[in-house]
Formats: sequence, C-alpha cells, structure tokens
Amino acid sequence: MFNFGAKPNSKIAVVPPKIRLEKAAPAKKPQPLPSKIATRPAPRPHEPTRTSSSKIRTSPATPDRLEPRKRKAVRQKSPAQQRIESDSDDDDTVGTPASFDEPSKRHKPSVDVDLKRELRYKQEAYKEHDGVFPIIHAADIASTTRKSKKVTTIEEKNVTVELQYPGASQRERYDLVFGREQIDPAHEIYTIAKTVANVYMTEEEAVLFTDPNTGLIRKLERAMNLLSRKNKDEELLDGFKTAVDNYNKALKVLLNDGSLSKNLDKMHHLPFEMVRLILRQVYDRAVSPQVDILKRTKDNKDNTYGELLAHFVTMIIEETQLKSDQVFVDLGSGVGNVVLQTALEVGCESWGCEMMPNACDLADAQEKEFSARCRLWGIKPGKVRLERDDFTRNVAIHEAIKRADVILVNNEVFSQALNANLVQLFLDVKDKCKIVSLKPLSADSKIKSRTFNDPSNLFEVVQKQYFEDFVSWKHEGGDYYISTKDDTRLQKFSHLG
Ligand SMILES: C[S@@+](CC[C@H](N)C(=O)[O-])C[C@H]1O[C@@H](n2cnc3c(N)ncnc32)[C@H](O)[C@@H]1O
Repeated sequence: MFNFGAKPNSKIAVVPPKIRLEKAAPAKKPQPLPSKIATRPAPRPHEPTRTSSSKIRTSPATPDRLEPRKRKAVRQKSPAQQRIESDSDDDDTVGTPASFDEPSKRHKPSVDVDLKRELRYKQEAYKEHDGVFPIIHAADIASTTRKSKKVTTIEEKNVTVELQYPGASQRERYDLVFGREQIDPAHEIYTIAKTVANVYMTEEEAVLFTDPNTGLIRKLERAMNLLSRKNKDEELLDGFKTAVDNYNKALKVLLNDGSLSKNLDKMHHLPFEMVRLILRQVYDRAVSPQVDILKRTKDNKDNTYGELLAHFVTMIIEETQLKSDQVFVDLGSGVGNVVLQTALEVGCESWGCEMMPNACDLADAQEKEFSARCRLWGIKPGKVRLERDDFTRNVAIHEAIKRADVILVNNEVFSQALNANLVQLFLDVKDKCKIVSLKPLSADSKIKSRTFNDPSNLFEVVQKQYFEDFVSWKHEGGDYYISTKDDTRLQKFSHLG
C-alpha cells in the first residue's frame, strides 16, 4: 500500500510490500505523567472536534474537519483556582502540601538517555549585552493596557512583577492581571518556579523551595491562591510580589554560585512537562494572539492546516529513537511546532519547510521567541532551520532529506498528486531513514506494488496507532505509518531477479 512510484529500468525482483500492523493499545488517552507540573492548554488553531470515526482509512479527514475553529472564550481554571472555589472564605492554605512534588517524585528520565545530548546554554553567551535580548514578555500579552480586569482598584498601582529564570539573563515581566487572557500570570509564575526546583536542583538545594510548609514555592502558592480570590486587594498583590522576589533572590544565589549549571551539565534529558511548558510559552506569545490568520488560506486542500500535539510528537521521537546527533525534517511544517519540539526535546538538527505565507510568518515569530526563551531557561536546543518554500522544489530541504534520519509528513489531507511528488523525494533517503506519515502515500496499492521495480520494496512499513487528543483537528485517535529504508532488502532480492 505504501507505494513510492516506479523506477523504470530497475532490476529489483518482486517483493510485495507489506505493512506490518503493530499491536498497540486501543486508542485512548495516555496515562497521566508522573510529574505534577500543571500547565494550561495552549489555544491551538482548532479545538478537537468530536467525529464518529477514528480510522483514517475508513473515514479520511475532510478539509472541513481540519479547518481552524474559533477558540473557546471560556478559560480553563487553574488547579489552584479550582481549589479556591471549594474552600472557605478565610482559608489561605487552600493549596495542600500534597500538591507539591515530593523529592522522591523529582524528575527521573524513563527513556533511553542520550548521553551525547548537552543541555546547557553556554554561560559566556550571556555576557553579550549583559544577558538582555528581545523576548515577548507575558506583560506584552496580558497587561492592564490590553483590557484585562485590573488586579487592583487603584489605577496607579504598579501590578508588574519580574521573574528570574535559570539562565543568566534578564527577567521576564508579568502584569498581574486576571481577565480573559490566555496567560494567567500568577499561575504561570508558580508553574515555572515548581518546574525549576524540580528539574534544575539537587534534592538538598530544592528543600528551601519545595518544603511543604515553609518552602518558597509553598509561599508563592499561598499568595497566588489568596490573590486569585481577592484580586483587587493591594496587600495581597504586594504579598504575591514579595513571594516572587524571595524566590528570585534564592534562585539567583544558585545561579551565581554555579549550582544550576553544574546540575544541568549532569543531565542529558528534559522532562516532557518542561518541554511542553516552554513550547506553550512560545506558542502563547508568538502564535495565539494571531492564530486567526491561519484561517486566511487559499482554498487548496494541500494547505489545509492542522497540528500534531506535543504528546504525539514525543511518541514519534520515542518510536523512531531520534537522537541529538541526528537530522529531523518536517515537510509542511506549518507554524513550526514539531520542528521546535524535536530541537528542544532531542537537541537534534531540525528542519522544516512550509509554503503558506501566514503559517511561515507565525513560524518565524515562534522560532525567534523559541531561541530567546531557551536562553531564559539556560537550555541549548538543536539547530533549527525553517525554509519558506514549496518542499517539492526547495534545494536546501532536498539536501536535508538526503541527510535525514527521521522525516515527518503530516499528509492527512494531501492530494494524491502531492503524495506522488513526495514519493519522488524519498527515493534518495539514506539507509535506515524513517519516514513518519499519517496516510500511506499512495492509494494505489494494486498494480505498482506488484511490479519488479517498485521502490516501496526498499521500505519496511509499520502501521501504528496514535491516541485520543493527539492531533489538533479531532478528538479520536487514529493510524500512522513508519516506513524505514532498508538497503539490505534491495541486495537480498536483486539475486532473485
Ligand atoms: C497539516 S499541516 C502540518 C503542520 C505540522 N507539520 C504538524 O504536523 O503539526 C500541513 C502543512 O503542509 C503544508 N504544505 C502542503 N503542501 C506543501 C508544499 N508543497 N510545500 C510546503 N508546505 C506544504 C500546508 O500548507 C500545511 O501548513
């Protein structure tokens, strides 16, 4: 079924291509991850829609189902806010100590660790411009000037607070506003603080932050809960600002004495929750404010937009065993979400190619914010390169395809003609290169697959399943395919011809 077209003069013998179906768990949500780092869902170009079918083969997605949808106006409540609503008026201890990550639950990688992966952004690089570089501050998105509900009734009250990150750089500016903004400043600050303590510190160092009764994060949580409840109270506003200042000071000590760098140098893997948090920060700042422009596309099936969500990308990374010294290519990379995730999560060289101008603009904005934000977090991602072009014609991407170890093509709604074009690009991939696609590239499974010279004979194809809520355009899970180039098949069968 996975038909790569025919090479007319080849002497390769007949090997009917097979798609091996791997037994997988029924499509359902993944198990909750061990870490309790809470993050809010980022608005994607379209919310998952409920449809009756889960199988791509039996019910191909129509362009309609992939069209961007207006995001819901209702904001999801943070866990802290939800707790507040069920507690009594005077309670300032609504967040229970149990909501903290116990030292025993601190991050431990569960995947094969890639020892070649270096995570730390080099300290010397911060010396340039005293660690100050352009970022989109949270206050640029959620601020008093953007019609949010003010946190205080006093007009001139300064609602700005600055947060220190683990990188030796400038702080991020947050305006403590509670409105219908995507970014919930207090909750994001609290989530970042928990993540930093969980990932960047030894258990000993983390105690000052995570002690369930006296820790700086506990104090931050308590102040956040009170403020969320009475967000016009000046004293509570000052209380939260003080908690952030104290956190900043304590973090700065570990930053300045080199403890954070030392710890990061011993690590070779980032927890998924942290990857997702950074990517959401980038998306919230660079894409969400203008996500509607993705709707303004030409009426062309090939350019229908939809995204693989972060869990799916992580599953692809694990299934293909993508490593930091390898090359990843996304053909039709949209706003660059998959390219950025592989660069951050794996540290590999990541390429994307996209032709739709609006998506390219958002991808460029994301790339810029991504690289700045990685510096804030003190993390070195893999090299990112985004081409603004038609991937069937772009020379740079063709060269990258030849060096690629993993290629993604989210071809759920690509036309047959485009899939046929893709086939030609894959003739030159290197041995063991893995091509991940959402649909077999050719609907024509009968004739060419039985010909002598069908290039699909060079690929071992495995059909796999993805879970519910793994893609942005529908709720259900579905099938995807991993085709691995295997030169030994060619050698083996050429004797038979
Ligand atoms: C469904 S989106 C996938 C986005 C991203 N790869 C993901 O999976 O999250 C497919 C993208 O491929 C792009 N595309 C289609 N044909 C293309 C071509 N010939 N060259 C470059 N991009 C193309 C579309 O414009 C669209 O943005």
